[in-house]
Amino acid sequence: MTPLTIDTQIGKPKADNVMSKLVKFAEFGDHRGGLVALEEGSEIPFKIKRIYYIYNTSPSISRGFHAHENLKQVVICVSGQCRFVVESEHGREEYILNNPAEGVFIEGLKWREMHDLSSDCVLLVVASEVYNDRDYIRNYDEFRQLLKRRTGVGLDHGD
Ligand code: TYD
Repeated sequence: MTPLTIDTQIGKPKADNVMSKLVKFAEFGDHRGGLVALEEGSEIPFKIKRIYYIYNTSPSISRGFHAHENLKQVVICVSGQCRFVVESEHGREEYILNNPAEGVFIEGLKWREMHDLSSDCVLLVVASEVYNDRDYIRNYDEFRQLLKRRTGVGLDHGD
């Protein structure tokens, strides 16, 4: 699968059928360095209830492997690089995240995976809900069954 390329228009999906979208944030950097500001209601299109970040992950370790049904998230690689995979009824999409001024917006029933995190990777996640273990679907087959029930779409693995 070809990784998505960067769409530099703020908030514009890369294609009509994408289930998540890469957004480009305004940068206020100057000769002193970079600066990005994220505000609820503009860059973050939902009420922010939680922020967490993943760091010090070995490049050989992949993370995620779970879905949420209703959680909204914006995922930003503020340092380093990683490969972020999202799967829904539209198939699997892959983002190479390496720019702190971009974020992936996700909502609805979607499976997430994070791969190839560089040793300096810091993945910042802004979320619409507080942590709730019951909101996690950690079994991939269960996710696929639920996806089929919700959307009528049953994809073969790897589509
Ligand atoms: P986990 O969901 O396994 O991380 P990932 O799937 O992103 O690789 O979370 C690891 C641990 O951290 C787990 O015990 C739950 C806890 N945790 C919280 O307490 N609050 C949070 O917001 C998150 C994301 C995780």
